[in-house]
Order: sequence, then C-alpha cells, then structure tokens
Amino acid sequence: MMSAEVAVVGLGYVGLPLARRACEAGMETVGHDIGADVVDGLGRGRSHIGDVTDEDVGAMLAAGFRASTDPGILTGARTVVICVPTGLTATGTPDLEPLRAAVRTVARYLEPGTLVCVESTSHPGTTEEIVRPLLEAYGLRVGEDFHLAYSPERIDPGNTGFTFRTTPKIVSGCTTLCAKYAEVFYEQLVDTVVVATGTREAEMAKLLENAYRYVNIALVDEAAVYCDRVGIDIWDVLRCAGTKPFGFSAFRPGPGVGGHCIPVDPRYLMTRAAEQGFTFRTLRAAREVLDSMPEHVAGRVRDLLHAAGRNPAGARVTLFGVTYKADVSDTRESPAYPVARALRALGARVAYHDPYVERFEVDGEPVPRHRTERDALAGSDLAVLLQEHTGYRSADWDGAGCQVLDTRGTAEGRRVTRL
Ligand SMILES: NC(=O)c1ccc[n+]([C@@H]2O[C@H](COP(=O)([O-])OP(=O)(O)OC[C@H]3O[C@@H](n4cnc5c(N)ncnc54)[C@H](O)[C@@H]3O)[C@@H](O)[C@H]2O)c1
Repeated sequence: MMSAEVAVVGLGYVGLPLARRACEAGMETVGHDIGADVVDGLGRGRSHIGDVTDEDVGAMLAAGFRASTDPGILTGARTVVICVPTGLTATGTPDLEPLRAAVRTVARYLEPGTLVCVESTSHPGTTEEIVRPLLEAYGLRVGEDFHLAYSPERIDPGNTGFTFRTTPKIVSGCTTLCAKYAEVFYEQLVDTVVVATGTREAEMAKLLENAYRYVNIALVDEAAVYCDRVGIDIWDVLRCAGTKPFGFSAFRPGPGVGGHCIPVDPRYLMTRAAEQGFTFRTLRAAREVLDSMPEHVAGRVRDLLHAAGRNPAGARVTLFGVTYKADVSDTRESPAYPVARALRALGARVAYHDPYVERFEVDGEPVPRHRTERDALAGSDLAVLLQEHTGYRSADWDGAGCQVLDTRGTAEGRRVTRL
C-alpha cells in the first residue's frame, strides 16, 4: 500500500476535522486511533463528531482516507500530526500519558525526513522537553533527520462562522527549518499561517487564549453573584457595557465552565508555573470563582423553592441542557455534573432534558430524562436552564406551572428568574 502524505494520530474533535481538511486539500490521508469503535465507525462511513457529517466521512473514504487501530498505518507518512487528548487525571492534575503513548508510537515508525507536528494543548516546554526526547529515542535527531513542530488547534465545535480553513493557524518548530516545514504543510490547509518564534511561544499562545476566556468568564460570573446579592440586574449591566465599541469584550455569566479546553488548559499552565516556583494568581482566583458557580446555582434553586413555599428535599428539578456548550452533544467537564450533584445533596429529585444527550449519568447514577420540553416543564417544580441550545429560544417557559431559573439570560416569561 502507498505511504500517506499525512497521518493523523487521534481522530477526535480535533483530528477528524483536520483529516477531513487534508482530504479536501487533495492530500493522501490516513488516521490512527486506539479506539476500535471510532475506527470501525469511520470505516463504515459514520462520524462520531458533531461537526463532521457522515457525508463528510463518505467523501473522505472516496478520496482514499483509511483509519486503523494498527499504528503500522503510519509507516512512511511524510507528515504525522498528533491530536490526542490532554485532559486531567482523576485527581485533577494534567494527564500527559495519552500524549506520551502516542509519541512513543510515532517514534517507532519515524523515518528520516518526516515532519511530526503536535496539536494537542499542553504547557510551554512540552514539545521540547517531553515530545522531542521520546521521538529521538531510536537515534534520529530533530533538525537533522526529521522535523518537529507544534501547532495549537483552535477548533471551536459548533462554530459555523469560522472553519478550519478560515481560522488563522499558529505554527512553530524546534528549529527554523522545522517551523518552515510546518508552515509549508499548513499553508496547504488554511488561509493564514502565523509563525511563532519557537514552540514554547506557540504553546503559551494557546494557553493564553483559553486563560483569557477563563478569567473573563470568572469576572462576569463573580459580577453576577455580587449583583444578585445587592439587587443589581447583571443582564442589563452587560447590555449597557456591551455597547462600548472599543476596549470591552462581552462575556456572559453562567453555571460554570465546561468542555475539554477552558476548564482544563489553565490547569496545565498553573501546574507548570507552580513547578517553576511561580503562582498564577489570576488563574487561581478565576478557578475559585468558577468552581463555586454550580453551588451558587444550587443555592438560587433552593432559595426560589423556599420562596414558593416548597422544600428542596423531594422537589422535582429538571436541568435543561447538560452539554458544556450550546448545540453540541459533548458533556465533558460540563457544569451540569456539579450542579446535579449539589441539587441531589439538597435532596432534590433531579431530571434532565437535552435534545443532544441520550444518557446523562452523575457519579454512576443515571439522571432520568424527559423527552420533550413540555413533559419536562409539566413534570417539574423548577426548571434550570443551563445551556442555551437554539431550540430553547422558542420554548414556552410559562406553559406549565413550574418556575424557571435561567442561568444564561436568554429565557423570557413571567415565571423566569435569571441568575
Ligand atoms: N475539542 C476541542 O474543541 C479542542 C480545541 C482545541 C484544542 N483541543 C486539544 O486537542 C487535543 C485533542 O482533543 P480532542 O477534543 O480532539 O480529543 P478527543 O477525545 O475528541 O479525541 C482524541 C482521540 O485520540 C484517541 N487517542 C487517545 N490516545 C491515543 C493514542 N495513544 N494513539 C492514537 N489515538 C489515541 C482517542 O481514542 C480519541 O479518539 C487536546 O489536547 C485538546 O486539548 C481540543
């Protein structure tokens, strides 16, 4: 079989759209993933990623795309792009094991002249200090025998305004030539390539982008908690402040942050900085605020139920939208988990409604699902709007007798109370 131009390692939210784009750009593309179900599905033309349709996978297969759990598929690939998860361990610390495992695999198939590019998010220094030694273990040298680059992914699931091609891509390399190879590779896939001075600058740029969101979301969340306490309408404050045409970017409060990136990436930076004897104080403060938001939501639920003369213990509370962002099916790190936990601790009978999520389990215990909005509202004493799925914009929140706590500031109705 012919060697591929591009091999993508890790065919998830980041790797699969990259492979699709490479196929579109006419590159002979293959993929390697340790998930047999992922590989089987793709082989049958089925996508497991919201932003990639089955038709897209069909077009990829027609263009010659092949995926395998066998890393032998990497043999001879000119460019290998690593897109494996960099999440947190059970104790909340950065988990670099999947990245190390993937790099060890790539090292076994490395050939002179290959460009290896890491896209997984990690702390500054990862490419040089962790990836490079593992790749060099079999004797080939970066900059002499093969090229090593880092290019952070900026994929934004559900975003139809910016695509892989139209989102500028930062690239960097261990040497100037490594960066050049990466630049030439990505120029074939995206409209704009931005070359960073080095891999640590590119790694830090990615973490800064997400730390910026983390800190600003924490700021508006804390402002919302303060405004609630002193009787100021935070949503009107945001409407007014948002009219400033310069110097102010609007962020919106909510029940906390979720997903694979925003709550996770700052941990990589904080942990690494701490190892280096540096305390990232803004991130530490932001984390404290963000971690407290699910409890704040549960506290508002308790107060609303008490005000209506109901005991939270035994009250039927339904969570609307349990994903980490709107209009996606991904529940990773969703604040819906700690909100459900806090409500259960109050004795509430928690259920959920989410058109995108078939099954939602918290601490091993399934949360009962309402299939329709109407049933969910009719079967609840209080509904909590956690996620602003587009479909909820037309919901009749007053249609049943239940109260509604809107944590997103988008619902209208006499029974609606905002965070
Ligand atoms: N999801 C996003 O929106 C997003 C955006 C920007 C950056 N990132 C970063 O991109 C990276 C990948 O994230 P993702 O959301 O695509 O993850 P994901 O969990 O959706 O997909 C990762 C895939 O890698 C596979 N995998 C794990 N270990 C492997 C190994 N050793 N060899 C081969 N395959 C392996 C998994 O089976 C999975 O299919 C992470 O570092 C993440 O922080 C994600």
